Amino acid sequence: MGRVGSDLGTSPWDSQHGEFDYVVRDVQGRIPEALRGVLYRIGPGRFEVGGHPIGHIFDGDGMVSRFEIAPSAVRFRNRYVRTRTFERSSRDGKPSRGFGTQRLGGALANALRFPENMANTNVLTHGESLYALWEGGRPHRMDAETLATYGAESFGGALKRLGAFSAHPKVDPTTGDVFNFGLDFFPRPMIRCYRLSPGGQLSGLATIPIPKLGFVHDFALTERFLAFVLGPLVVKRPIPVALGLRPFDDALSYQPDLGTTIVLVPRDGSAAIRIEDGPLFHFHVTNAYDLGSETVVELVAHDPGDGGWAKWNSHLRDYRGEPGPAFGGTLTRLVVNRDTRRCSSEPLSDLGGEFPQLDHRRTTTPHRFTYLAQASRPGGNPDLITTIDHTLGTHRSFLTDGDDTICEPLFVADPGTSEEGAGWLLTVRHRPTAQVSALLILRADRPDDGPLATATLDHHIPMTFHGAFAPST
Ligand SMILES: [Fe+2]
Repeated sequence: MGRVGSDLGTSPWDSQHGEFDYVVRDVQGRIPEALRGVLYRIGPGRFEVGGHPIGHIFDGDGMVSRFEIAPSAVRFRNRYVRTRTFERSSRDGKPSRGFGTQRLGGALANALRFPENMANTNVLTHGESLYALWEGGRPHRMDAETLATYGAESFGGALKRLGAFSAHPKVDPTTGDVFNFGLDFFPRPMIRCYRLSPGGQLSGLATIPIPKLGFVHDFALTERFLAFVLGPLVVKRPIPVALGLRPFDDALSYQPDLGTTIVLVPRDGSAAIRIEDGPLFHFHVTNAYDLGSETVVELVAHDPGDGGWAKWNSHLRDYRGEPGPAFGGTLTRLVVNRDTRRCSSEPLSDLGGEFPQLDHRRTTTPHRFTYLAQASRPGGNPDLITTIDHTLGTHRSFLTDGDDTICEPLFVADPGTSEEGAGWLLTVRHRPTAQVSALLILRADRPDDGPLATATLDHHIPMTFHGAFAPST
């Protein structure tokens, strides 16, 4: 067992320097008999290097937490992804250049340096493999059991140039194919689209030039298309960044006049469809599907507010403070008519939230239930797990105690039925008063009943961004 971090505090974003491997002793309640498999969670694990603080929530070194769930026990293991920057900064005690973090040494030390691959955003389980994802570079392949890092993966050279392989791949539940994209900049801004076969072969699907280089975090998959909703959060001030004078996040600007470009990339390789619409500020997509001549994309839209990206980003920089509007997005349905080339949008719920999830067996088809992380107090940390029933127009929520926080709720299907929504929600609770974290298992249809089981770790882990569940086979 490793050591517990010495910098204990009261934020869900406190570092965990230790690496652990043990059977969790404190399990309350009853783990469902049919819930067997491994939950992986990932996020930044440490927020200072050599005593120097990390300047942005996106820049902590990636740490994977692994919860192996069986009816009688939960086994926990966590490991940092051994990226090039983790190894170097651990040795030197100096932070790397990230999205919003500068290297020590001023402009000269930062000029012409791209952000380092922190491998901290999401994980993909595929066959026997586990990948730690970061949207500006290659995935890191890890051992799904030991969490040992094998290295940055190019899939036999199929990942070109920058090698970006974004952090929100989508799995077609019918074919098992994984679809993903990566941004590239040279010779011009473009999106490279990929398909990863169930056998592990990566192939290029399309390369789509984009008119303006911007922030593209997620995309949507239908039975026919990869759908990109390219909002007006774009690169506006690249020169000071390239010269090392300013960090990368400073180059982005929300420019509502530019509107949003929706790009539908056919999975069959035919020509992409482009549609212009009004400005939209979003990070995460829930799902998408085709209905006749319409393509529907469901996502969480945010109000950029008066301060635009700069004000939003100030909360991502001050991550130990209030998260601001991060958990107050509006679940929104965007309907794209491919014949008329027009869009319409409508709010699906008046509940604020983020990190939308669904029963992944419904990916590419209409879904009934959406699962959200929410903040019960506007501007606060997430402390609610909510199931929204779009058919009945109802919702049910689980609220944590006191100052406890939760993270993205992942849906795991009950293997005994194909009925949508029959299964469980897995999330990780952080309890600042005791500085411990716990795996919570909730009924997906009735989260308000409270956890069916709670497996409390001997220590905390920082709040995680995303995760995946691999059922036992
Ligand atoms: Fe994300």
